[in-house]
Amino acid sequence: MASDDVRRDFDTLSTVYDETRQPLEPATIEGLRSYLDEHRWTTILEVGVGTGRVARPLVDRGVRVVGVDGSRGMLGRAAAKGLPYLVRGNAYRLPFPDGSFDAALFVHVLHILDRPELGLREGARVGRHGVLAILDLPSWGEGTDRPAEDEPRRIVREALAEAGYPNLLRAGPRAKEQEILRTYPPAEIRVLSDREVSEPLSRRLDALEKRAYRHVLHVPADVLTRAVAAARAKVGTRTVTYRRNEAVAWWSDAPGVPAPPR
Ligand SMILES: C[S@@+](CC[C@H](N)C(=O)[O-])C[C@H]1O[C@@H](n2cnc3c(N)ncnc32)[C@H](O)[C@@H]1O
Repeated sequence: MASDDVRRDFDTLSTVYDETRQPLEPATIEGLRSYLDEHRWTTILEVGVGTGRVARPLVDRGVRVVGVDGSRGMLGRAAAKGLPYLVRGNAYRLPFPDGSFDAALFVHVLHILDRPELGLREGARVGRHGVLAILDLPSWGEGTDRPAEDEPRRIVREALAEAGYPNLLRAGPRAKEQEILRTYPPAEIRVLSDREVSEPLSRRLDALEKRAYRHVLHVPADVLTRAVAAARAKVGTRTVTYRRNEAVAWWSDAPGVPAPPR
């Protein structure tokens, strides 16, 4: 996504962001803390820090985190959580000299970037030991592209297509993250948490109803409302059970890509 679009969309999303996103598993935060301890990495730049959902608990556990983000709205929410070191900036041109931090950290950001490889490259420039990313690993088996927990997304996609808005909500964040892992293989991937989750299928529709995905769903509000209502009728009170796996990926160096324009 281009920087201006990011600013506009996440400024708007910031008002509903925390209430519509699943927090990271507590075991993932603890696991990340242990991972940093193991390597003796103490200074982290979180790129796309957002509302500080991850930076706050890391700071509480003694990690020195500086957060950078393109959206004033998201940064405002992070500041309200008392995070002391927040900077407005672009993931493609981080406002820090080379090697300023032990590592750069991306949490649910790489899949949003048009050019994730350039984000990784910038992260590796400012991170002495490279780049970390927290990712959701797919819960479905090899060769299956219809994970049960994505059913609400599929239903809304079909409803939007029937309303004249085809080809929306095609690849979810996990599919994009998997593509990034395949294209730019990290030096290490370590699973930090793995648990079975049961949730009502309607919960994801609640988030859609609050327009929590404006950055990918540029459809009129009334069209979305009707599509969500149609999806609710289909989903009813059914629940879905799946495994939630969160992992840390570590790129020790930047993937070999041309330098970004500066
Ligand atoms: C999905 S949110 C994730 C926020 C946080 N890491 C979390 O997990 O809660 C993505 C964040 O990345 C920021 N972002 C996306 N593209 C960016 C860019 N090119 N430069 C700076 N920030 C960017 C957005 O403003 C937003 O706050």
